Amino acid sequence: MNIKNICCIGAGYVGGPTMAVIAKQCPNIKVTIVDINEARIAAWNSNNFDALPVFEPGLAEIVKETRGRNLFFSTDVNKAIDEAEMIFISVNTPTKTYGKGKGMAADLKYIELCARQIAQVAKEDKIVVEKSTLPVRTASAIKSILDNTGNGVQFQILSNPEFLAEGTAVQDLLFPDRVLIGGDTATNEGQKAVQSLVEIYTNWIPKAQVLTTNLWSSELSKLTANAFLAQRVSSINAMSEICEKTGADVREVSKAIGMDSRIGSKFLNASVGFGGSCFQKDILNLVYIAKSYGLDEVADYWEQVIIMNEHQKNRFSDNIVKTLYNTVSGKNIAFLGWAFKKDTNDTRESPAIKVADNLLNEQALISVFDPKVVEERIYADLEYLNSRDPQENRTLLSVKKDQYQACHNVHAVAILTEWDVFKTYDWQKIYNGMQKPAFIFDGRGVLDKTLMETIGFTYYKIGSGN
Ligand code: NAD
Ligand code: UDX
Repeated sequence: MNIKNICCIGAGYVGGPTMAVIAKQCPNIKVTIVDINEARIAAWNSNNFDALPVFEPGLAEIVKETRGRNLFFSTDVNKAIDEAEMIFISVNTPTKTYGKGKGMAADLKYIELCARQIAQVAKEDKIVVEKSTLPVRTASAIKSILDNTGNGVQFQILSNPEFLAEGTAVQDLLFPDRVLIGGDTATNEGQKAVQSLVEIYTNWIPKAQVLTTNLWSSELSKLTANAFLAQRVSSINAMSEICEKTGADVREVSKAIGMDSRIGSKFLNASVGFGGSCFQKDILNLVYIAKSYGLDEVADYWEQVIIMNEHQKNRFSDNIVKTLYNTVSGKNIAFLGWAFKKDTNDTRESPAIKVADNLLNEQALISVFDPKVVEERIYADLEYLNSRDPQENRTLLSVKKDQYQACHNVHAVAILTEWDVFKTYDWQKIYNGMQKPAFIFDGRGVLDKTLMETIGFTYYKIGSGN
């Protein structure tokens, strides 16, 4: 089928950038992104391109080029479903916070609501594409809902997981390593649906990089990819602790092992821990799936990746307390960075949140500066933990407009995000304004140790032994 009209349900970090790039690369296809969140849609439609709901390098330019041409943002979900031949579901699939599987399983209520809405509205045959990350075999649940509550309409379900990383979303979408499309391999209709999605992507991606599989392989590949990536970070973080004890340097170890072509050099940066909306959620989901099949050893194996990550965050804050003479009560600590990684305004599961919470429990006073994260987001992240009352969070933690304000008069600076701009700061000026001895805890290994020590800082770098 030659697709002329696409709808995407969910205008978030995936739906927004993914559909903007499809609209850019396929000017003949009308792409409508819908969401129930009116404020989010209004922000996507705003003429202030600095205030789009998702910050990604290069995204505002693409939205400028395509919005009103063949890219549209709307809250009219029914209309967009009705008009589209192909519907992407790109809604959130968070970890369940209630009932069976609480704290582990993916909450599929938003997915099911979408399926029911599509079933109710559709009057013609549609292709429904899973863009959200889903437990393996979800497509059969979606199909069952669509087939049993629809109006005699034929639905084809595809799985097309998204592999973009935040901060590099536009580049990842324009030049992906691969695109994965899973479909029904047993029927001609299923294969035709797969081909119509292949044709959209081959407008700009070489055919050899568009991989087609059965539905279950596609769904499971997404969870597997995230589990492997997170496992690499936990593995190098585990080595960072050994490095600190032994005098090795984790960056030298990463380089040495990364030159082995079987290992590869990417994703070996030791850090204060991985964050982001995906890794933890998807591994917990994988652990839950393994357990539900009685595969306890498999479940334990992957759970260890999360346990290591929690340990890395806790040991970072423990080290701050220990180094500052075993008490941070009433001491000022500056946080540079709150986002879960550089070049994004996203803070979901950011290690900064846990580190801050631990230090606030020790009665530290924290001042935060992040180049892209807004003040209310930071307070909302802390409030979500429910560790203390909201007013206390606001008393103990302040959000500053620039780095020099944040670092003024503090006992220590902690680096939580690897923003490039941090390297360019006037560190002598920061040092001059701090309490002495002046400490830096570099959780991302971004600063130059020799330079910092020459200025006079007592400098701790994650994974660097003395
Ligand atoms: P998000 O929370 O940023 O966006 C989801 C949007 O869906 C929200 O705006 C919400 O209002 C909307 N929504 C929920 N239910 C709806 C409904 N019934 N009708 C209309 N709109 C509805 O989430 P995200 O980060 O874009 O993630 C979406 C999915 O993609 C998740 O499954 C996630 O695991 C997966 N994923 C995310 C990333 C990433 O980097 N963030 C990467 C790959 C895959
Ligand atoms: C991840 C996957 O990379 C992407 O393919 C998937 O679609 C969504 O989940 P994302 O979470 O956006 O993407 O960012 P990613 O670059 O993977 O970083 C995740 C976390 O790991 C960040 O907190 C990052 O700082 C950390 N990380 C990453 C490290 O600590 N060290 C590394 O070497 C790499």
